[in-house]
Amino acid sequence: MRTAGDIGAGLGLRLPSPLEPLHDDRLSRHGVRLLLKRDDLIHPDLPGNKWRKLRHNLAEARRAGHRTLLTFGGAYSNHIRATAAAGRLLGFDTIGVIRGEEHLPLNPVLAFAAGQGMRLTYLDRSTYRAKTDPAVVERLRREHGDFHLLPEGGSNALAVRGCAEIPAEIDVPYDVICCPCGTGGTLAGIAAGLRPGARAIGFAVLKGASFLAGEVARLQREAYGRTVGSWHVDLDHHCGGYARRTPELDRFIDDFARRHGMRLDRIYGAKMMLGVFALVADGRIPPGSTVVAVVTGRLDGE
Ligand SMILES: Cc1ncc(COP(=O)(O)O)c(C=O)c1O
Repeated sequence: MRTAGDIGAGLGLRLPSPLEPLHDDRLSRHGVRLLLKRDDLIHPDLPGNKWRKLRHNLAEARRAGHRTLLTFGGAYSNHIRATAAAGRLLGFDTIGVIRGEEHLPLNPVLAFAAGQGMRLTYLDRSTYRAKTDPAVVERLRREHGDFHLLPEGGSNALAVRGCAEIPAEIDVPYDVICCPCGTGGTLAGIAAGLRPGARAIGFAVLKGASFLAGEVARLQREAYGRTVGSWHVDLDHHCGGYARRTPELDRFIDDFARRHGMRLDRIYGAKMMLGVFALVADGRIPPGSTVVAVVTGRLDGE
């Protein structure tokens, strides 16, 4: 039997991902040390939390003898893109169920997915909202045959277990691990893997995401039967909502790129980093802390 330990063998994955200090006087003046956990460097097509979330799911799909992966996402979903790449690399057929109508020509994300061999199919928005209903899943099975189902965003109990492996790779003392938060799976896992005494902060990239704490707790219960670790969801740095931007965010990204030669992705990474700097400035991340910020996806412009 192939285990999760070897499903990625031969893919050239860079694991453990590098841990790099980031020197910035806006943090050092508060006595805070920041380390970047460069999960973006794990694999060009399976970067960041994508490999973490897929790893045990792919092993389980293989163990169960499934030849096909089916998953859901919006037309710009990083998860759709990564699932398509994982399928090609590991020999699974893949089906991407996309929210809304087909638009041609395909955007770059869906064109990439199709290029990897993913079969794309579309659900109108109201059916898409009901995608977890047994009747909708059954209809998909009738149309496409048997498959291993990955939820939207890839967040399920196995994904949480994969994300819990991030803290285990950190071999220096730390106080806080930070990540962006979309569906909550990454935070749920990181929090479960924390060393004793440390805490995790997830920065919501959506507006009005007070539901996210419940989602993180639900995912942890699904994975471990209980909630685990010290964590919370920061709701103050979404910059207007999903994929929205503010002049402050744009300025922060440009300035960060000038200082550090690194262009943070504006949907996830930049909002987390903006939040980290704000919490350091106002003391909610106190002086003397070592903070690890997880780079959960590709940098912009790559
Ligand atoms: C690059 C990137 N970072 C962070 C997230 C948020 O992770 P999660 O959905 O597990 O909260 C996503 C979405 O999956 C993502 O694509």
